[in-house]
Amino acid sequence: MSPSAVYQHPRYYAIGYQWNTEAECDFIEACLKAHGPPGATRLLDIGCGSGRHMSILAARGYRMAGIDLSPEMVAYVNEAAAREHLDISASVGDLRRLALAGTYDAAFCFMDTFRFLLTNDAIVSHLRAVAGHLAPGGLYLTDFWVPSRWELIGNEIHQWEQTEGDTTVRVFYLQHPESIDPVAQTFDDELVFEVQEGGTTREIRGGPTRTRLILPQEFGALVESSGVFTLLGRYGDFDLARPFSRDSLSWRMVSVLKRR
Ligand SMILES: C[S@@+](CC[C@H](N)C(=O)[O-])C[C@H]1O[C@@H](n2cnc3c(N)ncnc32)[C@H](O)[C@@H]1O
Repeated sequence: MSPSAVYQHPRYYAIGYQWNTEAECDFIEACLKAHGPPGATRLLDIGCGSGRHMSILAARGYRMAGIDLSPEMVAYVNEAAAREHLDISASVGDLRRLALAGTYDAAFCFMDTFRFLLTNDAIVSHLRAVAGHLAPGGLYLTDFWVPSRWELIGNEIHQWEQTEGDTTVRVFYLQHPESIDPVAQTFDDELVFEVQEGGTTREIRGGPTRTRLILPQEFGALVESSGVFTLLGRYGDFDLARPFSRDSLSWRMVSVLKRR
């Protein structure tokens, strides 16, 4: 199944997803301070999208590398980095078959990108590949959807709107319940962008994308069975003071892994 067509439109993605990015970068820095290797400067963004985290972190002094399957996203990131003289290098890559150079103090994979790993084998292989590119004690942070209620499995819908200049992007995230495979724990989800610009409105439908349901306990077991990471903590938001629990359950679970 092809990746969502919305990823061919990095500028609209950058506008639509700009919310909360500073707070997510603050969280990365708080994790590095609390748990990372001393003097951490080299960071890897897996599935970097439009580079919304990388540009903020590079401006804060980190050396950023990113990979993404979408050539349009990668070109957008590299053009912005050159324009703004930021230490960012993005390249086309697939998180299911990581082929990277270099060693990093920490890596992160945010906003559901991790759920493109569809099987337990794919998740464990990915974790081992990431660990192979981390310095001793390096961190790997993940952030992906989990259902806050059972009946939301395959039924989640979110929409929000962001404006920059005279462009407004309304983002619709939806899951297709008819596509659920309860054995494989996979289903199709979809992103739709409604873009208002220059007095016109256009709709960009991403098309269905196969994704995996990964439950909290299962994730812990997969991390353990990878043999390369210790799960330091899970959070109900980008906040180290808010452990993931029944009370803090939100639609995103943020996990902090440390390389053994
Ligand atoms: C929801 S976006 C998240 C982007 C970014 N992490 C963020 O937080 O804004 C998912 C990104 O993953 C990329 N992607 C999809 N499949 C991928 C794969 N197999 N390997 C690497 N990147 C992939 C898409 O092109 C897209 O940029």
